Amino acid sequence: MAVHTWRVNRPAPPQQTAWKALQNHYKKVKDLHLRELFASDPVRGERMTAEGAGLYLDYSKNRITSQTLKLLIALAEESGLQVRMDAMFRGEKVNITEKRPALHVALRAPKGTSIYVDGKNVVPQVHAVLDRMGHFCDRVRSGEWKGQTGKRIRNIVNIGIGGSYLGPRFATEALRAYADPSLTFRFVANIDSTDFVAAVRDLDPAETLFIVSSKTFNTLETMTNARTAREWLVAGLAGDEDSVSKHFVAVTANIARVTQFGIETANAFEFWDWVGGRYSLCSAVGLSTMLAVGPKNFGAMLDGFHQMDMHYLTTPFERNLPVIMGLLSIWQNDLFGSESFAILPYEHYLEHFPTYLQQLIMESNGKHVTLIGTEVTQPTSPVCWGDAGTNGQHSFFQLLHQGTRFIPCDFIAFAHSLHPIGKHHDMLMANAIAQSAALAFGKTAEQVKAEGTPDWLVPHRVFDGNRPSNTILARQLTPETLGQLIALYEHIVHTQGVIWNINPFDQWGVELGKDLALSIMPQIETAEEPRLEYDSSTSTLIRRYRALRGQSDNAVSCS
Ligand code: F6P
Repeated sequence: MAVHTWRVNRPAPPQQTAWKALQNHYKKVKDLHLRELFASDPVRGERMTAEGAGLYLDYSKNRITSQTLKLLIALAEESGLQVRMDAMFRGEKVNITEKRPALHVALRAPKGTSIYVDGKNVVPQVHAVLDRMGHFCDRVRSGEWKGQTGKRIRNIVNIGIGGSYLGPRFATEALRAYADPSLTFRFVANIDSTDFVAAVRDLDPAETLFIVSSKTFNTLETMTNARTAREWLVAGLAGDEDSVSKHFVAVTANIARVTQFGIETANAFEFWDWVGGRYSLCSAVGLSTMLAVGPKNFGAMLDGFHQMDMHYLTTPFERNLPVIMGLLSIWQNDLFGSESFAILPYEHYLEHFPTYLQQLIMESNGKHVTLIGTEVTQPTSPVCWGDAGTNGQHSFFQLLHQGTRFIPCDFIAFAHSLHPIGKHHDMLMANAIAQSAALAFGKTAEQVKAEGTPDWLVPHRVFDGNRPSNTILARQLTPETLGQLIALYEHIVHTQGVIWNINPFDQWGVELGKDLALSIMPQIETAEEPRLEYDSSTSTLIRRYRALRGQSDNAVSCS
């Protein structure tokens, strides 16, 4: 194993002094109610807050005392969090199972700064690609870049999956208010042909640009969709094979494969193997977002990311937003045993933030072994889910308020609407603030009775409360704020990963299913009845599918 400036082989949390202290403390405070905690400290809601990199965090509605936070910070210190942050920012090979750095922070490092990978400063190459992307986006947005028939490009279709899809789709949607409304954006990820057909059925090939985005340029879904897109384009342009050079660009860390596919290297935008897929939005993977909002707004987003990077790296833990939120999630997850948490953005443009965060959080920290390959001794990543407020209030909030599960929530809200109309925004904010208070303080049986509720109905109308939440407040959703917000969660994930001593930067768990699919495919395709030697369920499903597939279907034409 490579030599690091940090300890890979450190004691599992249960053997750590700080962990033991935390567990003892948990026994003492676990039954305290947020009602008591607020009643005994009138300034708790002012005190348990932190501000940095443009975001305000209220964490007072967590089931903690001041001592809890001290003990959590002691745990972070004993776990070597600062050393691990420094190592990541310095470009050390912190992704030890893939033997490479995890240097997404270099993607937003300002021009003129230096971060070294194997002795080479990578910041100039980052900016060289950003400049090329900017030049390309200006040409497309101005109409200078034309399609094969001379028409200007009106539609951008990003083909990619996982990190090559979720980040650009989320950011492009989140920044819709800043986008050129004359351009249409579509995102194709699923190998299900319906995804491709639904994305292109109303588009004119002569006005359509495809971005094939894949770090490896070898991902089954992406390469299959890219080939289908090429056929669709060429068929739509009277069989003109030369049209590919005007209608296809690539984003990848594997330029050689781009050439094999038939895209010219001049139309390829590079990123590097030290950028993890789910951390790649700030690289050329963000090309569709840059096309939507323009290079200046994209630069403002990178600046927001960088502000949060610096906040994370340099702010003392007790005022450090990602550290505080990361440690609180450990408290909920490992001590209270919460199995999931909800992301509740009170800004409609952030509707898909939960989906984006699912990959970031669960692909990063859904791990069962430590850095040295021993089984972890406590639960790792919680399940992340959620929806935009107030929509969620009218579906799953019932369970959050009165269900039997312990589900911490992150409320995300903004002081200004991007499209203010009448009282909409004040009502939205009233709801965001009210929900966190209702979760925390609930309503006692006495209060319910005092309202004149008949006795038989009282239990149904009682709210236990004591359900924790964070509230993140920012001025307005801008490209800069979006960067701050995403980087906040990236670093929360890092903090968690360090405490659990796992590798947040690999994803071996996605391999087995991929391999099995590749072995099943020939059994499905073969004309003869295959000899199936899988388990009885898998073999029967394959047989059943082959039989059903042989019957007539109801395919709908895509034109
Ligand atoms: O799902 C596994 C994964 O490797 C993700 O981590 C990654 O974002 C995605 O596949 C796509 O990979 P690529 O960009 O190489 O096509």
